[in-house]
Amino acid sequence: MNKKYFFLMIIVCLLFSVSSTFAAEIKIGGVAPLTGHVATFGISTKNAAGMAFDKVNAAGGVNIGGTKYLINYIVEDDQGTPEIAANAFRKLMDQDEVIAIIGSVTSSCTLAGVPIAQDAGIPVITPTSTAEKVTQTGDYIFRACFIDPFQGSVVANFSYNDLNARKGAVIFDNANDYTKGLAEVFKATFENLGGEVVAYESFTEESKTVDFSAQLTNIKAANPDVLFLAGYYNAVSLEAKQARDLGITATFVGADGWDSSELAKLAGEAIDGGYFCNHYSSEDPRPMVQNFVKEYSEKFGQTPDALATLAYDAALILVDSLERAGSTEGAAIRDAIKAFNKEVVSGQITYDENRNPIKSAAIIKVEDGKFVFHKTVNP
Ligand code: PHE
Repeated sequence: MNKKYFFLMIIVCLLFSVSSTFAAEIKIGGVAPLTGHVATFGISTKNAAGMAFDKVNAAGGVNIGGTKYLINYIVEDDQGTPEIAANAFRKLMDQDEVIAIIGSVTSSCTLAGVPIAQDAGIPVITPTSTAEKVTQTGDYIFRACFIDPFQGSVVANFSYNDLNARKGAVIFDNANDYTKGLAEVFKATFENLGGEVVAYESFTEESKTVDFSAQLTNIKAANPDVLFLAGYYNAVSLEAKQARDLGITATFVGADGWDSSELAKLAGEAIDGGYFCNHYSSEDPRPMVQNFVKEYSEKFGQTPDALATLAYDAALILVDSLERAGSTEGAAIRDAIKAFNKEVVSGQITYDENRNPIKSAAIIKVEDGKFVFHKTVNP
């Protein structure tokens, strides 16, 4: 190598390292339960959004108004607890000065955080919080998922029409916006169809409850055809086991809160034969789904659940919106998200006037501890 070429190389290397040291950066916040009773939800969320942002960074960053920015994704653990979620939102905004937030995961946590972001004009996309109230908080709040009035009616319709159930029972957490909302919609829809809700049993705070025998004893006496276990996977697995131990023979139905690699491990065969409503199926042949499933599984050694898919989608929606906004100002980002209209992994997303996407649902059946695609339900 001649000397001239050698020095040229050194200069190029120096310039490169200087420019990358000063590469512009934007901060995006994440709030998710990385520990606690719904920890698999948060881990999937962080993995998938992180994967999306890593890919953007590897390709040079987000182009905002002609400048490329690398994304610094800062994730806070809310432990599935609303008060901790509110502090996480505050910390990300006040201390880290993030320009937008992806989070949180469970509806009660998101509901605790979004009023703070709305007041500060920081756009939020919750990947997975399905409680209807979440986006009613204000015009900076969006989601990547459908809402519980849809999901709850899907479960009721499926129970009545596909399972031919006429007597339904529900067990839910009356201190949780998600499970309470689902229980109400299920009951109203099932009764409208002509079914009878023979038991409607609640308790307070599933993360602190391990014994459901009082509620299940009442349910057993009512002898339902289906039992809607309207909670998250830890509680659902306990309810399923205790119900079978008591001799309840009803078919179990559920909603997206069942979606965890832990469900069948914890519930064992008690949950076999159950059906739940979810946001996507990893068996969907659409190329975008199959590419994502392959990439995520290679990276994390696990098939992506709906939490992963929706977090990936939320990250795609945000990056695309930042590029179209051409600005890091909250109002510009908000307007760009509102105008989003593209296919993402979980389907086509366009926002209605309440900043909710209209999307189809997948019914999944649990067979031998595996999640098997059963059917798609369109809105
Ligand atoms: N929809 C649930 C909630 O609001 C969160 C969730 C989404 C859980 C998807 C599992 C899968 O609170």
